Amino acid sequence: MVKQSTSILDIGCGPGSVTVGFADANPSATVIGVDFNESQLEVARSHTQHPNRENLSFEQGSIHELSFEDNSFDLIFCQTVFVHISDHEKALSEIMRVLKPNGIFASREVMNSFIVMTSVSDILENARRAIHMGVTVSGGAPDVGLFMGEKLHTAGFEHLNQSLFGRGRL
Ligand SMILES: C[S@@+](CC[C@H](N)C(=O)[O-])C[C@H]1O[C@@H](n2cnc3c(N)ncnc32)[C@H](O)[C@@H]1O
Repeated sequence: MVKQSTSILDIGCGPGSVTVGFADANPSATVIGVDFNESQLEVARSHTQHPNRENLSFEQGSIHELSFEDNSFDLIFCQTVFVHISDHEKALSEIMRVLKPNGIFASREVMNSFIVMTSVSDILENARRAIHMGVTVSGGAPDVGLFMGEKLHTAGFEHLNQSLFGRGRL
């Protein structure tokens, strides 16, 4: 639970599975999900039909050009989106712009090269390599999770707290 009257933004929210969790856990917060894919937003918007979810809404938009005013959000979340985009600097400058001073930006990203499947199954390892290649060819960054700390530092974010695979500090 975050402090009352908080504003939360989930960028690249996809079907809104995490966004809806923010809204339910923080009924007095304003929670907005943004994604550039309208078909994902259609699914996401179905979550707003619930009677106790007046605090939840979804908008179409790009992480590279957010439609919000400066200093709008207390908490910004972004999960597995930087892996799909190439202009990380622009995305982080937009996040920094719409984040309130002393706000929190939380991100969770992929480190595809760390998921070595050879010992489990050659088929899974081949699938991992295919995903790596596919993401790279389409302009994404399959190992971006390894570099997020550095990117955030360069973009001017402070008090960084990183964890690898959700456990311990880097
Ligand atoms: C792997 S999904 C993650 C969805 C969600 N964050 C989650 O963890 O369930 C990546 C999402 O990022 C969105 N996305 C990709 N590039 C984007 C951009 N430039 N601006 C906004 N959303 C973007 C995609 O449409 C997709 O819904």
